[in-house]
Amino acid sequence: EGLDLAALEALAVEIATEAARLVVDERPDGLGASATKSSPTDVVTVMDTRAEELIRRRLHEARPDDAVLGEEGDDQPGTSGLTWVVDPIDGTVNYLYEIPAYAVSVAVAYGDPRTPGAWGVLAAAVADAAHGTVHHAHLGGGARTTGPAGSTTLRVGRADGLDRALVGTGFGYTAQRRREQGELLMRVLPEIRDIRRIGSAALDLCAIAQGRLDGYFEVGLNPWDLAGGWLVVTEAGGVVTGPRGGGPQAALTVAGNATVHAGLAALLDD
Ligand code: IPD
Repeated sequence: EGLDLAALEALAVEIATEAARLVVDERPDGLGASATKSSPTDVVTVMDTRAEELIRRRLHEARPDDAVLGEEGDDQPGTSGLTWVVDPIDGTVNYLYEIPAYAVSVAVAYGDPRTPGAWGVLAAAVADAAHGTVHHAHLGGGARTTGPAGSTTLRVGRADGLDRALVGTGFGYTAQRRREQGELLMRVLPEIRDIRRIGSAALDLCAIAQGRLDGYFEVGLNPWDLAGGWLVVTEAGGVVTGPRGGGPQAALTVAGNATVHAGLAALLDD
């Protein structure tokens, strides 16, 4: 239908980069681990909301007929059949503590991103805000990282078994979810080289595309946490699945190069 995927990718890159700059440059004074007494999550939410407003405004100017699904605002319906899936700050706890691993993820999808198995990502950008770089891809076009030093092609690593795999994971915010996640971690940990909890699902996925992680799993991700990174991984030659639901929003997300993905999926799929 004449969609220009490279143009959608370029728009995602432009908007994610702009929002990442806002999040870094306008970080409120005094925000940090020491501010925990005065309701720090609210302060983070202010930046989350500001970044998402910027993204929605820019998307509306450029693509008024597309829908928007974001972490902070209401679902914005559209008529084009495309939905932008937006996470204004992925890795909010890192942002709060000034740990430089948080990202702005802007992805454009077909189908219904709220229905597991019923959607896919066409183009995406994940801006690594603290480093001033952006990982980006469009379907069939490969994945790249672009920054002040130029642009490089991404390719997943060659780990050929779980015992050689450095694996990322993450934890949600409720006790019940964490119990479940802890149980999965107990299955995986004895089998792998080591585990990392970097704190941003979007950057974990992009790390696989860069060959800095070999695999990743997490139960309970939201579409905005994984949409952008999902395309970056697959365009870098990796595999992403949700074994329990059929699509990228399924309850259990598993990612890696083909070998590590298969090993993790076999361990985790009961
Ligand atoms: C969180 C991060 C984290 C993952 C959580 C997500 P947020 O996103 O991606 O790494 O483990 O499940 O909720 O809340 O920082 O946007």
